[in-house]
Amino acid sequence: MKYVEQLPVQGKTVFLRVDFNVPLKDGRVEDDTRIKAALPTIKFLQEKGARIILASHLGRPKGQRKPELSLKPVAQRLAELLGAEVKFCPETVGPLAQQMKKSLGEREVLLLENLRFHPGETGDDEEFARQLAEGIEVYVNDAFGTCHRAHASVHALARLVPLKGAGFLVKKEVENLSRVLKNPAHPYVLIAGGAKVSDKIPVLKNLMSHADKVLVGGAMAYTFLKASGKPVGNSLVEEEMMEEALGIMEEAERKGTEFLLPEDHRCVREISEDAQVKIMEEIEDEWKGVDIGPRTEKLYGEKIRQAAMIVWNGPMGIFEMEPFSGGTVAVAKAVADSPAFSVVGGGDSASAVKKAGVQDRISHISTGGGASLEFLSGKTLPGLEVLEEG
Ligand code: 3PG
Repeated sequence: MKYVEQLPVQGKTVFLRVDFNVPLKDGRVEDDTRIKAALPTIKFLQEKGARIILASHLGRPKGQRKPELSLKPVAQRLAELLGAEVKFCPETVGPLAQQMKKSLGEREVLLLENLRFHPGETGDDEEFARQLAEGIEVYVNDAFGTCHRAHASVHALARLVPLKGAGFLVKKEVENLSRVLKNPAHPYVLIAGGAKVSDKIPVLKNLMSHADKVLVGGAMAYTFLKASGKPVGNSLVEEEMMEEALGIMEEAERKGTEFLLPEDHRCVREISEDAQVKIMEEIEDEWKGVDIGPRTEKLYGEKIRQAAMIVWNGPMGIFEMEPFSGGTVAVAKAVADSPAFSVVGGGDSASAVKKAGVQDRISHISTGGGASLEFLSGKTLPGLEVLEEG
């Protein structure tokens, strides 16, 4: 795979696929992390005098024009961050887009409207890709968070442009995520949380061969607990995953991997900010676990602080609600305190790290949710694979 610095971009018209799928609130960008992450590539292209056409999706408008999912607010935020004008085209293809692309000067930046307003994007449609490709000399993909999608701007378009490569964000993501896959350091700790076991099984299976310890939290822990015969009250359980959960625990035992489940829980009867919270070792009937308990926080914290390599995906509880955020924030702080090479993947764990204010002390926070999960599962991402084609 070629990277942007190896491509002849000087004075060229460059299509840069970015992942500006960011949260908006009241017509403004609420979290600009993904926009900031694309700046090194955009600035590099500006320095080289390229004419820069940016394109991204935002949300899932399903081929319909949805004004609330317009990228216009993103163009404004990007202009502030770049300290330069960012032109905005309310179309992705067609005469207006064509004309705006053509009239772009060197170092100028144009952002196209949400790619998913067009049904051809998610359909990986060749005709749509051909229209996107009009006037393009070089294709650069810096949208790591979208590389697991075989969509037109990520896949079909890359096939149509002979000069292609990855941007600096994709490079950083691939290097850091590959390190935990290919160069494990021990003790290797995998922290798996989030609601569903089913989402995490491929990662658990793939990383189990490296991990010395697996620390489980979040609602997925209740499926494992129930599968091991422990009471879980009314907690969220994926009944259909119990057998799979048992299989994973047996596999851990065979491999000598320490597989830890929460020893205590913060429990409520109803999920609400002002619910009465009770710490329980065995979850009583009518109660549900919403976070790991203080003893588990301490135990997990000790394992994390002794690690040499950490992979963390998924929160320990419903951390968006203040009373149930303690376990996730404690884990985030422990990861930051640890001297380990640490990788945090997934939107929720990345926000938890920010909530804990420790983002500067994590080795790598992936901008990808689904993409980082698939990468860590050992899958080939279509958006990366296509860049390797000649
Ligand atoms: C993400 O936020 O994970 C990426 O932007 C991909 O979005 P998608 O899941 O809607 O394809």
